[in-house]
Amino acid sequence: MTSTSNTQAVPGVQAYRAQLLYFRDAQKAEDDACEWISDGLLVVRDGHVDQCGDYDRLAPGLAPGTEVRDWRGHLIVPGFIDTHIHYPQTDMIASPAPGLLPWLEKYTFPTEARFDDPDYAHEVARFFLDELLRCGTTTALVYCTVHPGSAQAFFEESDARNLRMVAGKVMMDRNCPEYLRDTAQSGARDSESLLNRWHGTGRQMYALTPRFALTSTPEQLGLCGELAQQYPDVFIQTHVAENRDEVKWAMELYPGRRSYLDIYDHYGLLRPRAVYGHCVWLDDDDRRRMRDTGAVAAHCPTSNQFLGSGLFDFSAARDFGLPVTLATDVGGGSSFSMLLTMNEAHKVARLSGHYLTARRMFWQATQGAARSLGLNGVIGTLAPGAEADFIVLDPGATPLLARRSAMAESLEELLFALAMLGDDRVIAATYAAGREVHRRS
Ligand code: GUN
Ligand code: ZN
Repeated sequence: MTSTSNTQAVPGVQAYRAQLLYFRDAQKAEDDACEWISDGLLVVRDGHVDQCGDYDRLAPGLAPGTEVRDWRGHLIVPGFIDTHIHYPQTDMIASPAPGLLPWLEKYTFPTEARFDDPDYAHEVARFFLDELLRCGTTTALVYCTVHPGSAQAFFEESDARNLRMVAGKVMMDRNCPEYLRDTAQSGARDSESLLNRWHGTGRQMYALTPRFALTSTPEQLGLCGELAQQYPDVFIQTHVAENRDEVKWAMELYPGRRSYLDIYDHYGLLRPRAVYGHCVWLDDDDRRRMRDTGAVAAHCPTSNQFLGSGLFDFSAARDFGLPVTLATDVGGGSSFSMLLTMNEAHKVARLSGHYLTARRMFWQATQGAARSLGLNGVIGTLAPGAEADFIVLDPGATPLLARRSAMAESLEELLFALAMLGDDRVIAATYAAGREVHRRS
């Protein structure tokens, strides 16, 4: 990469020359909305996209002295959006266990207990954010632990870097170790003060985060529903229908509910900006209900395979109009990389008879996620006006990828090679609000 600059840099303005790819904000299929510019210029002003188009058309209009970073041979796309991840599980990623519930008992809860120490929480948050940015993820929906200080630490670190992140303190008041419990009242009170402190502070946003129905009493879900009603623009995140044993236990704990999803519905937790992790064992009525209420599925393919939870049904999601986003679910998921997550999503789709194009997966990880989260026009796009969160992909990152991408005869083949052969090595640089926050060494 080289920079060209005639005289002094123009304050607040940077320009980037590269191949550009993003998706317009269309209701229709992502393919129709694809914008691909083979020699493009992205102009950023004060942290936002100012212009995005053909280099030949835009370059003559640049103010004299504007610095143009030359990323030719690379592809700039919007930063990835990971819709479900646990920052406190960073240190226990890749822990062996035969399924979700023993994994929670043996590794997750003891690790999360360490977050009563704010210094540890800050240190992990810093590593976690570095790792996200190294992998090209500029926005994530993040679970903290039950400790309010874990969310405070996370937001402070994210805010210091001016990243657009969504996070929340976990609420759980039963069926977990005593040392990790809040109460229905304290969980609601602490969540409310955190959301008042952080939702809308800089680029931070809050998510009400009941861990899952198994670890919340009806009273806790009830109070969470009241908060959801009181604060309609905050996010909601939880887990649903991940694992068969979990579904069975949920139905025992909430007798009378039609399905696991219906438990959350009963407490008013299905609505726009409600993001449900996994959704493997839903039925068609559940899918319809999610579509009708505006709730969103976060598909976590590496986690579902790692924990043996099951195969997400892409065809059923499509048939019933359920919006699907992609997520890593670290530490149940085995990688921070959204490229690797696309790779595994594609294989999960194939195993259930569905076919996911690379375009669709790039859309799901950018514009599609932004739209599902009510953040369209804000992130997930290179369209003018959006926050300048973008990444530079290197199709020559590894010898094999270089060889394969040189043979690509279409955009789909190039994107497919990046998704199937790529990981953090492909991310040459990451920019957040126009500032470089990662450069591959
Ligand atoms: N269900 C409840 N908590 C968790 C968690 O931490 N990870 C996963 N994968 N599933 C959960
Ligand atoms: Zn999870």
